[in-house]
Amino acid sequence: MSHRIKALVLALAELSVSAQEICNPATFQNISLFGGRVLHIDTRSYSDLAVQVPEGQNHNAKNVSGLDVCEVKIAYERPGLNVTVNTIVWLPTAENWSGRLLGNGGGGWKAGVEDNATLSWAASEGFAVVSTDGGHVAVDPSQWALASTGNLNWGLFETFASTSLDDAATLGKEVIKAFYGKPASYSYWNGCSQGGRQGYLMAQRYPEQYDVQNSFQLTNAGEYPNSCEFEAILAAVIKSCDANDGLTDTIILSPGDCTFDPSTLIGQQHICPSTNRTITISAAAATVAKQAWTGATSPSGEFLWHGLSKDSNLLLHAGTTCSPNGTCLGAPEPLPISWMKYFLALDPTFNTLNITTAQFTPLFRSSVDRYDSVIGTSNPHLTALHNAGAKLLSWHGLADPGIGHSGTEHYVRQVYDRDPLAASYYRYFEAPGLDHCGAGTKGFYPGDALGSLIRWVEEGVVPETLEARTREGVEKTVELCAWPKKMVYVGDEGKGGFGCK
Ligand SMILES: *[C@@H]1O[C@H](CO)[C@@H](O)[C@H](O)[C@H]1NC(C)=O
Ligand SMILES: *[C@@H]1O[C@H](CO)[C@@H](O)[C@H](O)[C@H]1NC(C)=O
Ligand SMILES: *[C@@H]1O[C@H](CO)[C@@H](O)[C@H](O)[C@H]1NC(C)=O
Ligand SMILES: *[C@@H]1O[C@H](CO)[C@@H](O)[C@H](O)[C@H]1NC(C)=O
Ligand SMILES: *[C@@H]1O[C@H](CO)[C@@H](O)[C@H](O)[C@H]1NC(C)=O
Ligand SMILES: *[C@@H]1O[C@H](CO)[C@@H](O)[C@H](O)[C@H]1NC(C)=O
Ligand SMILES: *[C@@H]1O[C@H](CO)[C@@H](O)[C@H](O)[C@H]1NC(C)=O
Ligand SMILES: *[C@@H]1O[C@H](CO)[C@@H](O)[C@H](O)[C@H]1NC(C)=O
Repeated sequence: MSHRIKALVLALAELSVSAQEICNPATFQNISLFGGRVLHIDTRSYSDLAVQVPEGQNHNAKNVSGLDVCEVKIAYERPGLNVTVNTIVWLPTAENWSGRLLGNGGGGWKAGVEDNATLSWAASEGFAVVSTDGGHVAVDPSQWALASTGNLNWGLFETFASTSLDDAATLGKEVIKAFYGKPASYSYWNGCSQGGRQGYLMAQRYPEQYDVQNSFQLTNAGEYPNSCEFEAILAAVIKSCDANDGLTDTIILSPGDCTFDPSTLIGQQHICPSTNRTITISAAAATVAKQAWTGATSPSGEFLWHGLSKDSNLLLHAGTTCSPNGTCLGAPEPLPISWMKYFLALDPTFNTLNITTAQFTPLFRSSVDRYDSVIGTSNPHLTALHNAGAKLLSWHGLADPGIGHSGTEHYVRQVYDRDPLAASYYRYFEAPGLDHCGAGTKGFYPGDALGSLIRWVEEGVVPETLEARTREGVEKTVELCAWPKKMVYVGDEGKGGFGCK
């Protein structure tokens, strides 16, 4: 008896020694990439990692501990393009690996998230997880977008926009085979914002790589309303429309039905909670709010792009900074500003603060003409995704102030209109009250969206609804509804009071 126990202990000891031995560059020496040249491969073992992972990237908060992983970093170039891409893979031990690969997306101008939080969360859930820097270590496009003033760095732009994502999936799968001695059973993509765009790009352009997941204006020249005016407008929107859905809980289930007119606030006084100053709501603030809700149009009123929901926070969209004497200047969200400077004007000195609608219209059109085929994800033909047997699960916060949900809804509608079977592989959920990727504390957050996708892919459980929960106020769990159904308040009969209609 004691003999057998000894043998078992010995076998375990050997196993852990060999686990450490294979976390070694030699294990991965034969990995190659079509169109790429591997420059170097580094490995590192982490043992007994403990990380407090905050909520984010489609997962709930989790305190990870006792985690052993093998980290593999692969640097490669695409010869002739003067681009070096860094890909990172975290591998749980063989006994803790679920057989799944997870591609993890980025945010803003970052192609991939290389922080311990996301990687350790995924590894602790049994995923082998891969992420890429997309060819640029520096995040800000001022550091990488231009080869020189007037000339885009096309090779790097395309690498960032698409090819590095395909490469990361390929490399992740190769690393898995080399480390575990067998391929992944399932591959998932997970991301939001830039990561959501990347997920849609994988679905549209590289549909074989993943079993797939996802999520996802201008001020009046010269006049910069105080941010506090937008806080006042938001408060008035909530006050005016919150009860329309039958429940006064600060969450508007159907912001599209809210008919609040901000002109009614012009001239009214409001005390700013942040500064305790009294301000008067200006006509400019009302105009900016209306423009934000309508979306971008040409000077003749033609549609350019979708607007935001009335219950979204406009501080991001029309931010200003004000000096103590009350003078305010525009402080718009940096993402569209750097897009205009580095990708459209190709000029770091381009002044975006004073451009007019007439100047914006051709810039917008050149953006689409020049770049849609490289970075855009508006192709509604998902036949190849369907044929690959993959699933796409996507959600969008209705109060997203960065990327209005209407653009996503428009895309879903196009897909569903052209393929009557679309609901069998693509499901979209709207999350009332939720900010960009669930930032902030308002609204219903679907923290286990990835779990729903996995159950759909692996067990055939079709996600008719997506579990979500509140994070402030009355704590409750609700079900988001698969588009085109919408959440409605039904009282006691529904989960958390809500149902789908
Ligand atoms: C790499 O390939 C060489 C040549 O085929 C082979 O001898 C070697 O065992 C391979 N190494 C690994 C780690 O698979
Ligand atoms: C993680 O641990 C911290 C500190 O002990 C605790 O405050 C927090 O609630 C824990 N988070 C989770 C998700 O368990
Ligand atoms: C494997 O997973 C178990 C359960 O989550 C955990 O307790 C253990 O620490 C993990 N082992 C390694 C080596 O990561
Ligand atoms: C290659 O890129 C680096 C910056 O990443 C730049 O300094 C260098 O000039 C480039 N070389 C060529 C030949 O374009
Ligand atoms: C991850 O955590 C380890 C251990 O705490 C630390 O050494 C390493 O620098 C961290 N890596 C990143 C990318 O933050
Ligand atoms: C806000 O300003 C009013 C009037 O100036 C003053 O009475 C009040 O104490 C201030 N409140 C705070 C929290 O500073
Ligand atoms: C207010 O302050 C700003 C920055 O401190 C200054 O540039 C501006 O001239 C001031 N305006 C008035 C009306 O005093
Ligand atoms: C915006 O400002 C720049 C630099 O101050 C100036 O060259 C340009 O003419 C201005 N454009 C408009 C439309 O006022």
